[in-house]
Amino acid sequence: PAPTSLNLAVIGGDGIGPEVVAQGLKVLRAVTDQVGVSVTTTDYDLGAKRWHKSGETLPDSVVEELRGHDAILLGAIGHPTVPSGVLERGVLLPLRFALDHCVNLRPSVLFPGAVSPLDIERVAPDGIDFVVVREGTEGPYVGNGGALRVGTPHEIATEVSVNTAYGVDRVVRDAFERASARPRKKLTLVHKHNVLVHAGHLWRRTVEAVAPEFPEVTVDYLHIDAATIFMTTDPGRFDVIVTDNLFGDIITDLAAAISGGIGLAASGNINPMRTAPSMFEPVHGSAPDIEGQGKADPTAAILSVALMLEHVGLPELAARVDQAVHDDLAERDPSVPRTTDQIGDAVAARL
Ligand code: NAI
Ligand code: MG
Repeated sequence: PAPTSLNLAVIGGDGIGPEVVAQGLKVLRAVTDQVGVSVTTTDYDLGAKRWHKSGETLPDSVVEELRGHDAILLGAIGHPTVPSGVLERGVLLPLRFALDHCVNLRPSVLFPGAVSPLDIERVAPDGIDFVVVREGTEGPYVGNGGALRVGTPHEIATEVSVNTAYGVDRVVRDAFERASARPRKKLTLVHKHNVLVHAGHLWRRTVEAVAPEFPEVTVDYLHIDAATIFMTTDPGRFDVIVTDNLFGDIITDLAAAISGGIGLAASGNINPMRTAPSMFEPVHGSAPDIEGQGKADPTAAILSVALMLEHVGLPELAARVDQAVHDDLAERDPSVPRTTDQIGDAVAARL
């Protein structure tokens, strides 16, 4: 049954994070008000500001409180005044691991009016509409590694990619289910199993083992390096891509770049087992270069709200938000710049 209330945790974070999240919430309220779904929000102060104030990254008590919500909306975390790695390893990754966000979902859609650096008429005459299902809790991001003799000519550094049969199976199944629900029903595994033979063959065998349960889904395979070629020369060939944490991180930046830029790229950190709340956020970071100037495009944050609505069981509302963004982009005049607030107002007004 569709929920009648939503209890959200909101982590605005740093830089433009709070600015774009505010517009996402504005649009969320506009679309939920009409159907009588009540929204309550609780703000959590995490990120660079908290770290500077107290040295804290992600207190255990905050993780426990977050668990009590239906979903989490995140802006962005990070600032040049914080050493690289402190907040990524201290806040973002621990959140994904603690809440078991094994599916990092990143759709890439070329909306009308969106500008791609590719010659779309030539390389993708039928448009771009694919989704990357990136594994979010394993791979080389788990922190399995270390360093010895740092700073000496004998330094040793390891960063071990961890892949479990359980972890690969659950993300592959999620990707098959998503492919099965889409019109083109195509799944592409992206890896490098000719060189990374241990992890690569686990991924390949898992896809082969699950495929018979989804006979309607066509299965394809590309090495990661070839995938980057096709993403620029023939992006229309992709429907659902499933891949590991590192390859997924890289390929989704490329995917965002070809389909209208970082201001449009939305993402969900999803727990498909629903044992903890999922978290929805724009792919972009805190953009300190434009902080506080009203220049941030809130569209990615608004599209992340649509992903959240879909996940919590309100797909009609998700479709309305997507359509409102679609129409707003189609009628956007790039020669007339709009502020963050004006874009949020324009999308909300269409609802
Ligand atoms: P960034 O995505 O913040 O910015 C890259 C460029 O894109 C900048 O020129 C920025 O002005 C522009 N940009 C980004 N989002 C925009 C938007 N919505 N509208 C208009 N322009 C936009 O990446 P950068 O500069 O590498 O990172 C800045 C900080 O953000 C760093 O501390 C980084 O660690 C953090 N970060 C956090 C992420 C997260 O919270 N998930 C993801 C990526 C970066
Ligand atoms: Mg990234």
